[in-house]
Amino acid sequence: MSNQPIIRFEKVTKQYDNNSPVLKDVSFDIERGRFYTLLGPSGCGKTTVLRLIAGFTGPTNGNIYFDGKIINRLPANQRQVNTVFQDYALFPHLNVFENVAFGLRIKKLKKSDITSRVKEALRFVNLEGYENREITEMSGGQRQRVAIARAIVNEPGVILLDEPLSALDLKLRTEMQVELRELQQRLGITFIFVTHDQEEALAMSDEIFVLNQGRIEQSGTPTDIYDEPINRFVADFIGESNIVPGKMLGDFRVEFVGKSFECVDQGLQTNEQVEIVIRPEDLEIRKASEGKLLVRVDSQLFRGVHYEIIGHDEAGNRWLVHSTRKAAVGETIGLYFDPEAIHVMRLGETEEEFDKRLEAYGGTDDAD
Ligand SMILES: Nc1ncnc2c1ncn2[C@@H]1O[C@H](COP(=O)(O)OP(=O)(O)O)[C@@H](O)[C@H]1O
Ligand SMILES: [Mg+2]
Repeated sequence: MSNQPIIRFEKVTKQYDNNSPVLKDVSFDIERGRFYTLLGPSGCGKTTVLRLIAGFTGPTNGNIYFDGKIINRLPANQRQVNTVFQDYALFPHLNVFENVAFGLRIKKLKKSDITSRVKEALRFVNLEGYENREITEMSGGQRQRVAIARAIVNEPGVILLDEPLSALDLKLRTEMQVELRELQQRLGITFIFVTHDQEEALAMSDEIFVLNQGRIEQSGTPTDIYDEPINRFVADFIGESNIVPGKMLGDFRVEFVGKSFECVDQGLQTNEQVEIVIRPEDLEIRKASEGKLLVRVDSQLFRGVHYEIIGHDEAGNRWLVHSTRKAAVGETIGLYFDPEAIHVMRLGETEEEFDKRLEAYGGTDDAD
């Protein structure tokens, strides 16, 4: 096996008919054996990326590589890729065994090989002994597993999963998230998973690509993206955040809500306009006299683990706080936060510029 990425997109643009492109200059690498998630709102182009990988459509511009070879026009049936569709697309008139065996029968494998491979695939998804069940007798979660067995039985290099959990209720969905993640790790096959659910993406992935309007806004590990969102779109889409306008006063100094704060950001221009992100769980409620910011409480909801408190500061910015402490509506509270809780976003920064800036911080932090 080679070290090169199993899939590479190189400046891929996709345009349907004469409409405006639905993917614009999309580039990324997919490494072997990892769990990737394409995350973004409905209509941003997630399914289109999967269709291009599967070979159901071709790129308008740019190149798609599989194992180092360009596959732009390679027919779907010649690609080492299998798709698990949102509605599973199982054959209702066939039993579990025949659903999983379908692709192998088309390839005209020997009967004994088909039997052993189907059994193996069903064992992998914990459906041993269900061979003769009708699809209509299976629950939603079990059908999901049959669809996965049907994909892994072909021993593909990559499995594409297009919002496969969105039809399940919350409890089952959480169980299937754990199951899918474990399965991917046991199989060691690359999974490319599509979802519009940020919590699902954070819970399952080795790496997330955040898509917006046909472009990748940011790629990285779940913690990278959660802790260091590149811009307002990502900060808003991944988790809840407070975003307020600010201005750099120099290295490690930023102003917002008319006050000066210590921060951990450097290398920006003095007086540069920026946006400030602070996560709700990084805000602490204190007495008004001990807060760095004063906020008047507009509402409070008990969320089980924490209170969700919404208020506004003197400049009218809205603040969301997750706290185990209560506050009263109408009360003025002090908000306290560490310099590390302040995340500074530059306006219009590209991912390349952003990565370079973060690397520079790392260099000073861990100077040894
Ligand atoms: N076959 C097609 N012909 C024309 N437009 C399409 C086609 N498939 C998708 N689109 C358009 O491309 C955009 C992205 O769609 P899609 O990749 O399905 O997004 P997502 O999966 O993120 O919801 C949408 O605006 C959609 O209407
Ligand atoms: Mg889709």
